[in-house]
Amino acid sequence: MRKFIYPILIAIVVISFLLSLTFILPQKPIIKYSDEELREVALSTNMLPIPKTYEELLKVVDNPKNPMTPEKIALGKKLFFDPLLSRNQDISCATCHKLKDGGDDNMPTAIGDDNKKNPSHLNSPTVLNAALAFRQFWDGSAKDVEEQAGGPIQAHFEMNMTPIEIEQRLKNSPDYVEKFKNVFGNISFENVKKAIGAYERTLLTYGAYDRFLEGDNSAISEKAKRGMTIFIEKGCKGCHTGMGVGGQSLQRFPLRKDASIYDMRPNIELNPELKIVDKRFPFENKGGFLGKDNNQIFKVPTLRNITKTSPYFHNGAVKEIEEAVKIMGRHQIGINFTKTQIDEIVEFLKTLEGEIVDYNLTNI
Ligand code: HEC
Ligand code: HEC
Repeated sequence: MRKFIYPILIAIVVISFLLSLTFILPQKPIIKYSDEELREVALSTNMLPIPKTYEELLKVVDNPKNPMTPEKIALGKKLFFDPLLSRNQDISCATCHKLKDGGDDNMPTAIGDDNKKNPSHLNSPTVLNAALAFRQFWDGSAKDVEEQAGGPIQAHFEMNMTPIEIEQRLKNSPDYVEKFKNVFGNISFENVKKAIGAYERTLLTYGAYDRFLEGDNSAISEKAKRGMTIFIEKGCKGCHTGMGVGGQSLQRFPLRKDASIYDMRPNIELNPELKIVDKRFPFENKGGFLGKDNNQIFKVPTLRNITKTSPYFHNGAVKEIEEAVKIMGRHQIGINFTKTQIDEIVEFLKTLEGEIVDYNLTNI
């Protein structure tokens, strides 16, 4: 028995030494890929370009329970931009989701009917590429864009209408009566949601990142390629994945809660208000929203067009993209990025900006 004790002790000392090294040694250098290798790694792990033709689009986003047709999409577009859907006829979906400017409103929190703020201080997410997500809303509570569309119309702090009021208003418009008749046969709240959903499924954006994935090496800069490599190799892609570069799962945030890694409350002594912040949530908890089942579980947002949709996070608490990336590094993957690395990642995120694809739909 005795003869085993020394080897075991030595083994313990050696293992502890090796483990401590992983904390002392600098980060592993990031692999340097060639353009072809980088593209290959991205494509093989489901980072895919946006379809450019209507046929390809249908393969990716069509909903068998609400098949897309050009007429339905055109009706949905009209509804999306129509303030008729709000109580005071002054707010449309496009008020909070500006398609020409990132698909959101660039405000920390949404302001709707009668200047009411979102009661949970929620930030408007982009509608661009939202249809690619596996669920809708920050807590994933709506199954798809069709179901989602019913929410804001009825929320008293958004458009503040009832389904019956919506149906009555639309029935008073000969133009809508005609269009709903052609597309669905009749006007109903369900059909309003379906038309808007069909339109949202066409709101996909194509940009430099897609051109790179499709083979154009010069579409993105060397700096952006370094950022993309970090994004893939350090694990951002683990959550922000798929064609939407996000929207595929619900995840805990902050995943690594240890406030010693990062504390968003440096002025805690100066600002007594911050003292009420839940200590388990080392992130400014404006609005008190804690995601699905109050468990700090949030839908992973799409990062397409992210550099156009400041401020960031579910409560819009962070204004600068660099700060958002730093928080993600520290809290989601446990890395304190250097300034250079953050700049490279941000350069990559810029390549995710894109233009809404023109799917050449007649009469839309
Ligand atoms: C007053 C501002 C406001 C209006 C008006 C509004 N939205 Fe939103 N929208 C928001 C906010 C805030 C959220 C996030 C709510 C949540 O997650 O609980 C949101 C979420 C969404 C989402 C989910 C996106 C995602 O990534 O989860 C979609 C899609 C969407 N809205 C589409 C619409 C449509 C369609 C309309 C019109 C029928 C509309 N919105 C009207 C503010 C608004
Ligand atoms: C474990 C999953 C996970 C990992 C890994 C992860 N993220 Fe996130 N990311 C999330 C979630 C969840 C949110 C939404 C948090 C919230 O708003 O409450 C988010 C939000 C963001 C946002 C703000 C999005 C918006 O619309 O406001 C950015 C930017 C972002 N992540 C970038 C990154 C980068 C860069 C990395 C790698 C350093 C990364 N993320 C790694 C899950 C993750």
